[in-house]
Amino acid sequence: IKVLVLHGPNLNRLGKRETDIYGQMTLEKLNERLVSKGREWGIEVQCAQSNIEGELIDFIHQAEGEFDYIILNPGAFTHYSYALRDGIASVDIPVVEVHLSNVHSRESFRHTSVTAPVCRGQIVGFGTLSYELALAAISAWVQGSAD
Ligand code: DQA
Repeated sequence: IKVLVLHGPNLNRLGKRETDIYGQMTLEKLNERLVSKGREWGIEVQCAQSNIEGELIDFIHQAEGEFDYIILNPGAFTHYSYALRDGIASVDIPVVEVHLSNVHSRESFRHTSVTAPVCRGQIVGFGTLSYELALAAISAWVQGSAD
């Protein structure tokens, strides 16, 4: 089983950016942890990040036939990118949307996700653990212990 973890805009700044909201862990460290968690669970994890909307869409298109699942943090694109939403809908790969922060307790523009309706599910507000929980959900689906 192969999982693509895709990080959107400004997530390369993780560990440096608004650490009160997003925490101290760097993106590099987070990716390392996800790869090693995946290994424990028999899942091959590959990670990518882009600040560019079209590049994220390209990653999603190119994942077809290569990856079984995508874990996606679309960053601020979550709230307004219909192009990213259509990109997700254009591939036959289940996508789990994740957010580090609890977007529902923040500014009202963050309460809307235009991408979530075309995702398999959404995990929000658990910091870097949000990604691990998404990987745990995928592991459970793969093992057939969830429907
Ligand atoms: C975020 C939440 C978004 O609103 C914000 O634009 C981000 C990060 C999160 O992981 O909490 O860049 O996706």
